[in-house]
Amino acid sequence: MKVNLKPRSMMYPSPAVVATAYDSEGKADACTLAFAAMCSHRPPAVMIAINSTLKRKTLKSILETKEFCIGFPSAEHAAQTDYMGIFSGYDTDKIDDVGFTHKKAEMVNAPVINEFKVSVECRVMHVSEVGSHTQITGEVVNIQADEDILNNKGKVDFEKLDPLAYDDVGYDYYRMGEKIADAFKIGLKYKK
Ligand SMILES: Cc1cc2nc3c(=O)[nH]c(=O)nc-3n(C[C@H](O)[C@H](O)[C@H](O)COP(=O)(O)O)c2cc1C
Repeated sequence: MKVNLKPRSMMYPSPAVVATAYDSEGKADACTLAFAAMCSHRPPAVMIAINSTLKRKTLKSILETKEFCIGFPSAEHAAQTDYMGIFSGYDTDKIDDVGFTHKKAEMVNAPVINEFKVSVECRVMHVSEVGSHTQITGEVVNIQADEDILNNKGKVDFEKLDPLAYDDVGYDYYRMGEKIADAFKIGLKYKK
């Protein structure tokens, strides 16, 4: 039997990523986000959504500089990622508090957190208001990855990245499971 649940924002699986930007004084802001997704192949683009009804420093910085990065935490970074989603850059230097370091991205004026194994560098393409959140689409202009998590084709190895997953219903972090099939192949068995 199916039951109806109260409407809420919901997506499975949900990532936990960290958006970063410089504020007007050059201080690096970082903010944990579950509202993040791919949204275009050409040009490559991603979208994030940040609550505009609450005071989020990273949102202000992204809208001012029009550039940002998204770092992909690994499961081992759950505590640091959580911290950056609890406290505000208005009150403390979160990146420093968790013992992380950062440097300027290659192609945009935004910080890259060195400890994250993959970071995408984005230029703001489009901003729109969606209810409580400001939805920001960023063109991906560069991707930085640690060499030791690449496979022999030079692509990010998902298992080596070990990306952090998040359940926004239970408010829990998860490690992803094992590979179960090849995409664009396993479904072919139903082809008539
Ligand atoms: C797992 C997790 C996911 C979150 N996802 C979002 C999100 O998608 N959008 C958002 O506006 N805030 C989200 N938050 C809350 C912000 O990260 C939090 O308010 C943060 O303190 C804002 O920091 P800032 O003021 O330095 O920008 C999330 C927090 C956690 C712990």
